[in-house]
Amino acid sequence: MDSGHNAKMSDSSSVESPRKPLLARVEDLNLHFDTKYGAVQALDGISFDVFEQETVALVGETGCGKSVTARSFLQLVETPPGRYPAGEIRFKSERECDSCGGAGCAECYDSGRAFDDLLAMSSGEMQGIRGDRIAMVFQDPQQALNPSLTVENQVAESVLVNHHEEILEEAGIAPGKVDDLTSRLLDAYASPSRKWYNRVIAEAPLLRSKKKRIDALVHERVVDILRRTQIANPEEVSRKYPHELSGGMQQRVMISMALVAEPDLLIADEPTTALDVTIQSRIIELMSDLQEEFNTSFLYITHDLSLVEDIADRVIVMYAGAIAEVSEVEQLYDNPLHPYTWGLFNSIPTADTVGGRLQGIDGSIPDLTNPPEGCRFCTRCPEVLDHCPDVDPGLVEVEEGHQVACHLYPADGSEPSKVAAIETDND
Ligand SMILES: Nc1ncnc2c1ncn2[C@@H]1O[C@H](COP(=O)(O)OP(=O)(O)OP(=O)(O)O)[C@@H](O)[C@H]1O
Ligand code: SF4
Ligand SMILES: [Mg+2]
Ligand SMILES: [Zn+2]
Repeated sequence: MDSGHNAKMSDSSSVESPRKPLLARVEDLNLHFDTKYGAVQALDGISFDVFEQETVALVGETGCGKSVTARSFLQLVETPPGRYPAGEIRFKSERECDSCGGAGCAECYDSGRAFDDLLAMSSGEMQGIRGDRIAMVFQDPQQALNPSLTVENQVAESVLVNHHEEILEEAGIAPGKVDDLTSRLLDAYASPSRKWYNRVIAEAPLLRSKKKRIDALVHERVVDILRRTQIANPEEVSRKYPHELSGGMQQRVMISMALVAEPDLLIADEPTTALDVTIQSRIIELMSDLQEEFNTSFLYITHDLSLVEDIADRVIVMYAGAIAEVSEVEQLYDNPLHPYTWGLFNSIPTADTVGGRLQGIDGSIPDLTNPPEGCRFCTRCPEVLDHCPDVDPGLVEVEEGHQVACHLYPADGSEPSKVAAIETDND
């Protein structure tokens, strides 16, 4: 029975995907958690790219490894119990490539800039990345915000970390000119540890006018970044505490803090899951607008495939710690290849299924302390072949920019095995 997949695969040469420069390459990432029940093999050889100014969506059911993949970028997975038996996350640095001196070579993917492994960085090096080059927005803003600080004080900290030098300069304190006590005190005041210096400066009348100038400059920047996330009355909001704000507003504050540094990569881990549907779509719209304004790449994590059509350029479908499919978003909607992706599409409620029974995917994810040797989806797959439980299919490029890990699509390019017709309601 022809499902239409063959027909689509044959016109794959017409799919054009002009690539922006590479920003990050995740290569063969393996992550295990040591527990009393054995090692949980949470990630099994994850590899994918993130290009500049693109939005990549990481999609899959609960427990498939989306958050641990994202958190690995910032060394936020606790080790132990976590450990990385193999893998790298190579991220484009601001240094010239050591191998070619900036001319471009295979080592630096022709960019001329060195790619450093985020997993191998010291904590000092990671501090230079965190919040500055890579920022993260979490699912629950209430947990991530400090309940005892006003919005202004929290956003101010990001402003001071990222714009310290400019603020000093604008206040008439030239950078590097910290040779006298006055400058040193003001330099320290214009830093996240300002609270302590606040008291010292309050005792020194001569410093007060400079302090006022720094305060005004920080406030201006706080209000400006809040306004850019479309907070209607940023002056008023800046004076509030997190509990005085709605969930949508709290998430906007989190996004503001993440964007202060104008990071190269913004990772958003289910940023709208805790919000109601109308606010969800407003936040998603906002993030796409900000991406254009700030030229940021997005790694957008969600368990909800229906969200990605509007926001993502490419989609990575994960199942039980492994990648099932990687595709441009239009290709995925037109021609989903992996049986698990079919199941995800069939789980999306439509006008016909709302209130009725969703087709969904039967069964549950395998025990990750003892996953199948071969395809991890074999225990639930309606198309399972004899060798699927024992032989890892590996990711195979089936059409340009479209990879799938499934034995139905042989690596040697021969005709795919019989694919049962599936009904996806995504057209
Ligand atoms: N500290 C830990 N100890 C043991 N196992 C862990 C630990 N942290 C994560 N895991 C396991 O790693 C796997 C991936 O977890 P992860 O949180 O990345 O899933 P997820 O895709 O983000 O799910 P969700 O949609 O629920 O957020 C899960 O099987 C989880 O149980
Ligand atoms: S490799 Fe086999 S079990 Fe896995 S998704 Fe493909 S057909 Fe199903
Ligand atoms: Mg998660
Ligand atoms: Zn090079």
